[in-house]
Amino acid sequence: MTRIFVRRCALLLAISLPAPAVMADPGAEMFATQCSGCHQADGSGVEGMYPPLTGLSAWAATPAGREYLAQVLTHGLFGTIEVGGASYMGGLMPGFAHLKIEEIVDLLNFVTGTLNQPAKNYTPFDAALVEAARAAKLSGPAMKPVRDKLPKR
Ligand code: HEC
Repeated sequence: MTRIFVRRCALLLAISLPAPAVMADPGAEMFATQCSGCHQADGSGVEGMYPPLTGLSAWAATPAGREYLAQVLTHGLFGTIEVGGASYMGGLMPGFAHLKIEEIVDLLNFVTGTLNQPAKNYTPFDAALVEAARAAKLSGPAMKPVRDKLPKR
């Protein structure tokens, strides 16, 4: 009898609890399901394979860097890259063109705004940047020369 009462109380409590005041960041949720398997939950990467997604603040603050980041998420990347003097060759960064534009915007803002310490002149990514990336005829291998033109990170 008491047990049933306790269970009922727990149920009532669960139902009546208010929804969290702060909505979870949709970019964080997307990152957990789409990216963390390779780049790790904190974006620290895996040595020799998956590059860290930290140290991106400088790119996130320049037009060319922002364009590149939107394009990489859309088209992927294929080729050995260097980050902080270390090489990464994970085989392939898949493209995410199948996601909604807004989902890619959320992902970019989570990566550049939460995993990285945004620079002073940082502005969040918007749909226009991702739409332009989507319209560009690019592919994983074609992204490598685009990356090579950016300042080293
Ligand atoms: C299957 C593993 C895998 C998944 C999943 C993945 N990536 Fe990658 N990512 C890579 C690899 C590998 C590279 C480096 C390119 C290479 O080795 O060919 C890379 C490169 C990148 C780069 C470019 C870094 C640079 O220095 O140029 C960014 C940005 C990036 N990934 C973000 C993401 C985000 C955000 C997600 C989730 C939407 C994601 N990745 C999902 C494997 C992955």
